[in-house]
Amino acid sequence: MTAEKLAELAKEAMAHAYAPYSGFMVGAALLCKDGTVYQGCNIENAAFGPTNCAERTAFFKAVYDGRREFTAIAVCGGKDGVVTGTFPPCGVCRQVMREFCADDFVIYLVNESGFETHTLAQMLPFSFSAAEHMQHGSPSEAK
Ligand code: THU
Repeated sequence: MTAEKLAELAKEAMAHAYAPYSGFMVGAALLCKDGTVYQGCNIENAAFGPTNCAERTAFFKAVYDGRREFTAIAVCGGKDGVVTGTFPPCGVCRQVMREFCADDFVIYLVNESGFETHTLAQMLPFSFSAAEHMQHGSPSEAK
């Protein structure tokens, strides 16, 4: 799977967006270590808060199917489905990536003519992960 192909799959996923409130249609294509690709779109809600981003839709589909190891994700989006620059993952999506992905997980931000390449470590520095959770213990263990 090339980065170009993953970017194409992210663009394709935008068409599935349910975004009647913001008009921003977002698509993601998540590459698993075994080569499987999961596509996701944003799914909005009248109450706004329950809205799910494209990246999380892709992750949750993959995890439900038993995948927990990932290599890269391509993301693209734009008003009314027109890509006019990059659409970086929100903080919540970056934290979901952190749960399953290492520092070198690659995030391709797709734009009109190509894509930018970043890593999770660049996009979510000083993060709180499962490792920190184990190190500090769970609240139930606190004295
Ligand atoms: N959105 C995503 O799908 N991914 C992100 O990481 C940022 C935001 C969606 C949520 C909402 O439907 C729309 O973009 C505008 O915020």
